[in-house]
Amino acid sequence: MMRTASLLLAGLFSLPVLAADALPLVEIYKSPYCGCCGAWAEHMEKAGFQVETHLVDDVDASRARLGMPQAYGSCHTAKVGGYLLEGHVPAVDVKRLLKEKPKAVGLAVPGMPPGSPGMEGPPPQAYDTMLVSKGGTATVYQHHGVPGKAEAVRPPLRFGSDGR
Ligand code: CU
Ligand code: CU
Repeated sequence: MMRTASLLLAGLFSLPVLAADALPLVEIYKSPYCGCCGAWAEHMEKAGFQVETHLVDDVDASRARLGMPQAYGSCHTAKVGGYLLEGHVPAVDVKRLLKEKPKAVGLAVPGMPPGSPGMEGPPPQAYDTMLVSKGGTATVYQHHGVPGKAEAVRPPLRFGSDGR
């Protein structure tokens, strides 16, 4: 009886493990001084990915070593399921990539567009997730518009010199 019970328990406990295994590990390479990469890591964890963080001194050198062209550079580079992710790529795009498995280096959201995952806060802007080919060219993989707006409006950086 005890044996049956523990086998049943083992069976029950293996279920969440199997579910977690369905999504590959995201290995993120980031600077210790940048916070938005951590916010992106949280976004990926919320979407069900396991995330491992490696702190690097030189993000550009790390990007080059991993094989993401500098032209698409952002603040961090990540590895997932044989692909590279550059910058604040939405988890939904990563899941699509892993499902469709195109021949590519991976996905990139160049720069740090406000409104992308981990870059919430400033007024959001429209941005594109790019599919980067092995030859170094890229095509738009997914356009992300500003919710409820046809076009993003960029406010001036400061409204007054020293305010009140
Ligand atoms: Cu960033
Ligand atoms: Cu960052």
